[in-house]
Amino acid sequence: MASSNDIRATFLDYFARNGHTPVASSPLVPRNDPTLMFTNAGMVQFKNVFTGQEKRPYVRATTAQKCVRAGGKHNDLDNVGYTARHHTFFEMLGNFSFGDYFKEAAIPYAWELVTKDYGLPKDRLLVTVFSEDEDAAVLWKKVAGLPDDRIIRIATSDNYWRMGDTGPCGPCSEIFYDHGDHIPGGPPGSPDEDGDRFIEIWNLVFMQFEEGPPGTRTPLPKPSIDTGMGLERVAAILQGKHDNYDIDLFRALILASAEATGQDPDGPFKTSHRVIADHLRSTSFLMADGVLPSNEGRGYVLRRIMRRAMRHATLMGAKDPVMHRLVPALIRQMGAAYPELVRAETLISETLLLEETRFKSLLERGLHLLAEETVRLGNNEPLPGAVAFRLYDTYGFPLDLTQDALREQGRSVDLVGFETAMQEQRTRARAAWAGSGDAATERVWFEIKEKTGASEFLGYATESAEGEILALVVNGAQADSVPAGTDVAVILNQTPFYGESGGQVGDTGTISGPDGLVITVTDTQKKLGDLFVHLGRVEAGVAKPGIPVVAVVDHARRGAIRAHHSATHLLHEALRRKLGTHVQQKGSLNAPDRLRFDVSQPRPITADELHWVEAEVNARIRENSEVTTRLMTPDAAVELGAMALFGEKYGDEVRVVAMGEPDGNKPAWSIELCGGTHVRRTGDIGYFRIVGETAVAAGVRRIEAVTGASAEASIAEIQARLNDAAGALRAAPAEVPDRIAALLDDRKKLQNQVAELQKKLATGGGTAAAEDIDGIMLSARNLGEVPAKDLKGLAEAIGKQQGSGVVTLVSTADGKASIVVAVSPDLTGRISAVDLVRAASAAVGGKGGGGRPDLAQAGGPDSTKADEALAAVRAALAG
Ligand code: SER
Repeated sequence: MASSNDIRATFLDYFARNGHTPVASSPLVPRNDPTLMFTNAGMVQFKNVFTGQEKRPYVRATTAQKCVRAGGKHNDLDNVGYTARHHTFFEMLGNFSFGDYFKEAAIPYAWELVTKDYGLPKDRLLVTVFSEDEDAAVLWKKVAGLPDDRIIRIATSDNYWRMGDTGPCGPCSEIFYDHGDHIPGGPPGSPDEDGDRFIEIWNLVFMQFEEGPPGTRTPLPKPSIDTGMGLERVAAILQGKHDNYDIDLFRALILASAEATGQDPDGPFKTSHRVIADHLRSTSFLMADGVLPSNEGRGYVLRRIMRRAMRHATLMGAKDPVMHRLVPALIRQMGAAYPELVRAETLISETLLLEETRFKSLLERGLHLLAEETVRLGNNEPLPGAVAFRLYDTYGFPLDLTQDALREQGRSVDLVGFETAMQEQRTRARAAWAGSGDAATERVWFEIKEKTGASEFLGYATESAEGEILALVVNGAQADSVPAGTDVAVILNQTPFYGESGGQVGDTGTISGPDGLVITVTDTQKKLGDLFVHLGRVEAGVAKPGIPVVAVVDHARRGAIRAHHSATHLLHEALRRKLGTHVQQKGSLNAPDRLRFDVSQPRPITADELHWVEAEVNARIRENSEVTTRLMTPDAAVELGAMALFGEKYGDEVRVVAMGEPDGNKPAWSIELCGGTHVRRTGDIGYFRIVGETAVAAGVRRIEAVTGASAEASIAEIQARLNDAAGALRAAPAEVPDRIAALLDDRKKLQNQVAELQKKLATGGGTAAAEDIDGIMLSARNLGEVPAKDLKGLAEAIGKQQGSGVVTLVSTADGKASIVVAVSPDLTGRISAVDLVRAASAAVGGKGGGGRPDLAQAGGPDSTKADEALAAVRAALAG
């Protein structure tokens, strides 16, 4: 018996043999389509190739594509477990021609594969064609030799395939397998076509047009082919089963579920096993593609699927979490074909365990409440909406979980009542908010969020994504149309732009759209927790709500921000290791060109300590270890050794970022709770350099540092300064310190010489320069720039040479006048130095002076009057 893995390989090999390039499945979160919640067909990744917008190096491709149909337009969730062919996750096998071959080749390929390689008997097969597509009918007759009654013409949209409201489309032709007349049901197009006898296995779409805004349809550049075959369906046929859940792949998962719960795989809990097997696949694959449980958007769909499975495990009497125990079985089945599953194994198991642990007690209490409420109800009486809402709001029961739980009783939920209760809660929340005194300017964000819900952040996994404009704000008010040249705030349904938070600055980049629309984004902020607001300017075209756009983050800038943020984690840990665990983060900034990190630390951090920290961070960078991100409860994170910020409020789940090799009993060198974006490996940081350490407040020190290109620039700047200094010294850079020491030495010597010379100059004239005033010798000199502090010594030296007499010296250094008067001891009986210095001081605007009769000093602000001061002394002596 061919296994599912063989069947997949046969398909891909067949088309590879026929010139098709095997292309890996694209992720479940579409990067190129804002209208799709999850990838739901093989052609999704090729949408723009069909329309000619995107070029690939091949014109024929084949894929096995992961698809999820839960949430959004296609939602099979409610039926899963209860029917033979509904799945939330399935694989679509496909072959594609991008303007290469058309139906004349697609039909023979399909027929050959199905009848030869898969060996299906021809008489069990029949096909449908679109009623207007005569070419297809003729081809089927020619290629397959099918009789007319097994080429069924269908006029409805069933045989005209559209991707959605817009996008590539065309008539299609489906291949059906007849499971035999023991199963009820009629051929396609007949009144009882919905029975299970005739099952569609392969849809061949003859892509010819692109559907634009309503009513417009343009031909594709060239007719193309898109086909989709459900692997699970074809495997059922090839393995002789009628029910998809009986194929090898599902059977292995169902047996794992039976073993984990101790319940017979085919007994009364058959449905529960099927639900678990299906939901294990969708939840695991979604997590491997970066979706994590949350209360919004894709994350909430994931949570709904998980909780639905968990209820079934509880229903089977499981006391402990079950889902995470089944992951190895899934990986055994599908890990070889989808290596991303193997890579994400730990994340998947841990997240399942976390969700199930957290939800278990709520689930039990909620089911108890549900049982109490339903006994009061009459047969077939729907569950009141208010009760369903209480289960949703208080016990975390997604609506479909409640519906699923009531399904066995044949009971429904009063959906109108549920919606009313939900509305009432919104109204209460609005009233509470309106009364909270928050700035009225924020009202607009509240109004928008009520309408649009939270924005979905895709930026952990990608830097560009398509999105839809949901709202535009100009000058604080919502706008319907924003022309070029206007400053605008843009809200998208999903965005790769990081909104400023946790110290990491918001992203910048561009948002572009149809008809030449270009918006430059200069900042991204988060409002009301999770509404991402892109702030910028419409540069060209006109922005309007409802239009699809492509949002692209400035890649280089984001890369530099990431490096600084990851370096901050390493810096934090290194500081704690060097200074002690009292070091706590008090604030941080992670920008493209620098990081700033404030920590509690009572004294300055010494140069040696900083050097150690810098070297330690660089050693971790060179280690180039992987940076990992996981979701867990705050308690589990702290147990792991994560640094939680004291006093910070965390939700039920936290993101834990770990980097560096394991250390002691810690699984990584640095473990922190963080919502920011980080490098893949520590080596991506490049290089780390501390450029400043200062005080910001009592007990708080600030470290400023740079990484990567900014660190390089900082080194280059220092080198340039050193080169300038060396140039000025006419020395090699290495000689600069010695040369400066030598220069300082020379300077000191020269200063001494200058002082000596000044002294000589001042005293050099000897008594020859003295004047005789009424029999008293006076040496009076203006010494100009000679420092004031030297005057006394000079006056004494001159006095000694002169003998009996008076010496008066004035200095005009430093822009003011300083005066010293010395009187020889023999004269102090009749002449006082103090009187003379006072007379001199008055001339330079001073206020007196002081000293002894033999030596006094004074000063004054007016240095230009130095000679008048000397004249005043002469006059006083003459007087
Ligand atoms: N796009 C078509 C489908 O989803 C064929 O692949 O059915």
